Amino acid sequence: MAKFDDRAPEWDTPDRIERGRRVAAAVAKAAKITGADRVFDLGGGTGLVGFPLAELARDVTLADASAGMLGQAQAKIDATGVENVRLLRHELTVDPLPAERFDVVTGLMSLHHVADTARALAEIYLLLAPGGRLAILDLDTEGGTYHDDPAEPVIHGFDRAALGALAIATGFEDPTFSTALELQKRGQTYPVFLLVARRP
Ligand SMILES: C[S@@+](CC[C@H](N)C(=O)[O-])C[C@H]1O[C@@H](n2cnc3c(N)ncnc32)[C@H](O)[C@@H]1O
Repeated sequence: MAKFDDRAPEWDTPDRIERGRRVAAAVAKAAKITGADRVFDLGGGTGLVGFPLAELARDVTLADASAGMLGQAQAKIDATGVENVRLLRHELTVDPLPAERFDVVTGLMSLHHVADTARALAEIYLLLAPGGRLAILDLDTEGGTYHDDPAEPVIHGFDRAALGALAIATGFEDPTFSTALELQKRGQTYPVFLLVARRP
């Protein structure tokens, strides 16, 4: 994932660090994370959400398609000696799924980078153990103005009702949405939802 490899060294801005801590707290609360839980962070990047979650969970797998983003996470592990964060170079919908199953799958602003949302949800479902929780955050539908390059191959946010229906069609139960963040960019406000659902 060349674009994120290039951006990785400058990814951790003060704003993003603060956002990551806030999101981790929201995910921990919504998914009721305990010290017994194994967490999979989809598109976990440099670990801005994953490292704070690792303080509360049994362990966190930071899964990302970008070796550059994971390289930044590895530097944090080397610097802090944190022992319950594992790195996995993995591109959802492209690479085979790992064999383990997780209690929680989270992910901040990564789902809109995966072209096939139905397949992404189906693979997330398989990553979860029975009773596991999905707690994923992404943009509400936006007009294609969020990304700097309008030609970038991303999904321009999600319609909550349609994504909730897709989650149910995938097999998830009780999808609920809340607004977790409001991102400001070029004078515009972009709400970010938190979708929580359960694998029966
Ligand atoms: C906008 S960044 C968010 C990173 C991190 N969640 C954060 O909030 O700081 C999106 C991340 O998703 C990763 N990504 C994109 N497509 C992916 C895929 N199919 N599987 C796994 N990671 C992917 C990118 O490499 C990138 O690190």
